[in-house]
Amino acid sequence: MVDLATRIGTLTLANPVMPASGTFGPELAQVFDLDRLGALVTKSVTPEFRAGNPLPRLCETEAGVLNSIGIPGKGLDHFIAQAMPEWRRFRAPLVVSLSAPTVASFADCAARLAATPGVAAIEANISCPNLEEDGRAFAMHPEPAAAATAAMRRAAPGMPLWVKLSPNTGDIAAVARAVEEAGADAVVVANTILGLAIDVETARPKLGSGMGGFSGPAFKPVALRLVWQCAQAVRIPVIGVGGIATGEDAVEFLMAGASAVQVGTASFVSPTAMLSVIEALEKFCARKGIARVAELTGAALPRA
Ligand code: DOR
Repeated sequence: MVDLATRIGTLTLANPVMPASGTFGPELAQVFDLDRLGALVTKSVTPEFRAGNPLPRLCETEAGVLNSIGIPGKGLDHFIAQAMPEWRRFRAPLVVSLSAPTVASFADCAARLAATPGVAAIEANISCPNLEEDGRAFAMHPEPAAAATAAMRRAAPGMPLWVKLSPNTGDIAAVARAVEEAGADAVVVANTILGLAIDVETARPKLGSGMGGFSGPAFKPVALRLVWQCAQAVRIPVIGVGGIATGEDAVEFLMAGASAVQVGTASFVSPTAMLSVIEALEKFCARKGIARVAELTGAALPRA
């Protein structure tokens, strides 16, 4: 028997596989038993109602998916009153992704989520590439990333706080160090990378907002490199995300220093992709005589 458990700060997950925010909802319970996942992760919740970005919001390319959804949603009150009871039907730990326009509203929302029964961790989405006016700014530089993290840490002292970083910055390791210093319990590496597709007939971008976040297998080597850099920069756990579709992909991320992985775009291709990843991880460890999946974390990092 392989022990699949992984620790992210004070939180122990039964296995290291969970959905990437925004690619998953409780309706997937019709397809498989969601309690087989290491954790559940919600679409980003915002303080107030947001309409989202102009249509079209999704564009498939030969290499992966571009999105500019713009975090539409009904706001935090609605989430707590209407969505939380749905989520609480499951036993797997619930990670609530949070996006906010200012440091103060990140802090307010974190305090409210910390007071909401059933929230196991907050994943602070400081890195959405599709919010012109705010969101993306926090993760682009160490100082705003640290300011948002420190404010949430103060507002929700006991609550596990994961911070989702951006690939659209020059020095992700510096941002990772800054959020660790500011009190993050883990970094999630990484959000989607800004891309573009153009309709040559109309000479217009294919997405309504122009640019969008790119995801899928073509992004995997970049995300893996970001995980590798962050894992060497911080002591807190790194959660890897970007183009993971198979058990072997997950093993690569763990070996690059991740303690857990998130699966996003692959679930659009096959809704049960996460289960295949869990099963393949277990088989890999059994074949290699590895008793605990946690032993894989950092196995490929340069030795100190
Ligand atoms: O690629 C993304 N799309 N990343 C986010 O953080 C949010 C999402 C959206 O709603 O645009």
